Amino acid sequence: MRNLHPPMMKMLLAALLVVAAASFRAADAALPSMAVGVNYGANADNLPPPKDVAAFLAAHTTIDRVKLFDANPAFISAFANTPISLAVSLPNSDLPSLADKQTGLDTARAWVRANLSPYVPATNVTLLLAGNEILLSPDPNLVLSLLPAMRRLAQALRLEGLTGVRVTTPHYLGILAPSDGIPSNARFRPGYDTKLFPPMLQFHRDTGSPFMVNPYPYFSYNNQTLDYALFRPNRGVYDPNTKLNYTSMFDAQMDAIYTAMKRLGYGDVDIAVGEAGWPTQADPGQVGVGVEEARDFNEGMLRVVSSGKGTPLMPNRKFETYIFSLFDENQKPGPIAEKHFGILNPDFTPIYDLGLLRQSSDSGAPNPSPNPSPNPSPKPAPSGGGKWCVPKAGASDTDLQNNINYACGYVDCKPIQSGGACFDPNNVQSHAAFVMNAFYQANGRHDYDCDFKGTGVVTSNDPSYGSCKYVS
Ligand SMILES: *[C@@H]1O[C@H](CO)[C@@H](O)[C@H](O)[C@H]1NC(C)=O
Ligand SMILES: *[C@@H]1O[C@H](CO)[C@@H](O)[C@H](O)[C@H]1NC(C)=O
Ligand SMILES: *[C@@H]1O[C@H](CO)[C@@H](O)[C@H](O)[C@H]1NC(C)=O
Repeated sequence: MRNLHPPMMKMLLAALLVVAAASFRAADAALPSMAVGVNYGANADNLPPPKDVAAFLAAHTTIDRVKLFDANPAFISAFANTPISLAVSLPNSDLPSLADKQTGLDTARAWVRANLSPYVPATNVTLLLAGNEILLSPDPNLVLSLLPAMRRLAQALRLEGLTGVRVTTPHYLGILAPSDGIPSNARFRPGYDTKLFPPMLQFHRDTGSPFMVNPYPYFSYNNQTLDYALFRPNRGVYDPNTKLNYTSMFDAQMDAIYTAMKRLGYGDVDIAVGEAGWPTQADPGQVGVGVEEARDFNEGMLRVVSSGKGTPLMPNRKFETYIFSLFDENQKPGPIAEKHFGILNPDFTPIYDLGLLRQSSDSGAPNPSPNPSPNPSPKPAPSGGGKWCVPKAGASDTDLQNNINYACGYVDCKPIQSGGACFDPNNVQSHAAFVMNAFYQANGRHDYDCDFKGTGVVTSNDPSYGSCKYVS
């Protein structure tokens, strides 16, 4: 992110680690095919060698894509003969030479021959990223060189026979005009909307490469919108044009991008998420940062991008997505948070559980089992059946209706609709019980998934009745 990047407060975090195998299992069951990508930045002095990282990810996680901020040969070759595909990046400063009308194509071919050809296909490189967040640059020459450089690179890849590599570039959200946060009002920044993005989107359509964005609710929240940014229950943002309610800022940002693209006639072009994440530590006084916050954000995002849930305007779509970030990076300059976006410690134990670890550790990984610390998770996930989430006695209908509105954004609420098995008795209490339980079960049955701002409680009495079956 913004390529900014101090030592880990590992001891502190260790107390919060969720390492119980049972909780990985529960999360895997809830999120069955959570294949996802990660950004692998290495601006740190405490990380394991790339070969060990590649072997660990391949053997012990469901991570299937890795994005690099450069084209370092040690990193590219580390992923040879693994099921993990790579996105590699060119530095921003290379773009002007690639854009040159006379020599750009030769330069691009030479770059591909030097940096990719030796490693492909043993390493499955699927994306080549032309710079990072170029449109943030105040240098007009750099901005003008972006699309020509992308075209030369795509042509060079074809000429060099690397047909499996597509070209794109990650954009920051400032490509959108300032707006009121209503997704259907979004548009690209004036100037870009007519000159830059129509031909760029046409390039994506022609080459089948995704339009890549870096949505960062982390950069947009304030203490009023924290729950909205973290996929936690909240009032939501109503879009009067589409009559859709947004209960997450990430959804709203993705739909804003989609709206801007559609306005130009390119709603069909795939959107990929180049970076999005949440830090676990920040400078003193910054609210909304911590292990729980980071986990809630990334879990919520995974549900949107990997489960097939999609967003309100793009239901059932999946988005090629790279979580920011694999490791904390202790050598990054800038605020403390910049160094603490990681999901794994250098010894491969998770900083928090995202359900991305495979349970078994049967194949040849460098570091067989993430060394389980004896501490139990503060909120252990039960592994067996026999637990349901229901409204607390005395919870108000208003609160329960909010729970329904929220949870129905994530779970199938057909059973409580007219004709559904759990429609009768047709009251808020009964409907809330059904969807609160469905939400709790789908998220891995952590106690906090049944909190609902203090309106839910876990019970061992099966609330099922007649043909209305509550999952457990
Ligand atoms: C390379 O990775 C892509 C994306 O993950 C996948 O679809 C493709 O099958 C992989 N190719 C090979 C040869 O493994
Ligand atoms: C959150 O915002 C409110 C109102 O803007 C402010 O009074 C309060 O101090 C803020 N809380 C924190 C922890 O910053
Ligand atoms: C969205 O929320 C608003 C305000 O809470 C409410 O009036 C409206 O009925 C909701 N719309 C939908 C489609 O859920």
